[in-house]
Amino acid sequence: MKMKNLEELFQDELFDMHYAEDALIKALEKMAEKATNPKLAQGFRDHKEETAGHKRRIEKVYELLGIKPRKEVCEAIKGLIKEAEDLIGHTEEGPVRDAAMITAAQKVEHYEIASYGSLVALANSLGHMEAASILSETLEEERATDRRLSELAEGGINQEAMQQAA
Ligand SMILES: [Fe+2]
Ligand SMILES: [Fe+2]
Repeated sequence: MKMKNLEELFQDELFDMHYAEDALIKALEKMAEKATNPKLAQGFRDHKEETAGHKRRIEKVYELLGIKPRKEVCEAIKGLIKEAEDLIGHTEEGPVRDAAMITAAQKVEHYEIASYGSLVALANSLGHMEAASILSETLEEERATDRRLSELAEGGINQEAMQQAA
């Protein structure tokens, strides 16, 4: 089905992110279980809670605008989660795996930042101001998560991984 207008594009992007957030709830739990560093494990769990909130915010936007949800698969997030799983499979438990999961998680956050940035811009263009403000809250949480992941990597995990014998 071809999209006819910006409203349909906005909705299509929302459906995409709804799938993505739902898939990420499960992926973040798995990453928390595989993390060795307790701060990283807690970080994944905290963001899992936030991610459940992101999904609810999208549902709130559906309600607010009377959007009928449609099932959509986000191939990009599927691919990013697959990459994260491969990295887990290809590393031993410990700091190298932690560092690998941080890189995978930051790719996800950047994808989400790009997606919510576009969603906010689309909502603003369409005059959906309340939806734009709801989606901006999620955008801020994705940005904060990305920053926290950088802090964890640069604040010790990468260093520990370097000390691990080859
Ligand atoms: Fe999210
Ligand atoms: Fe996120």
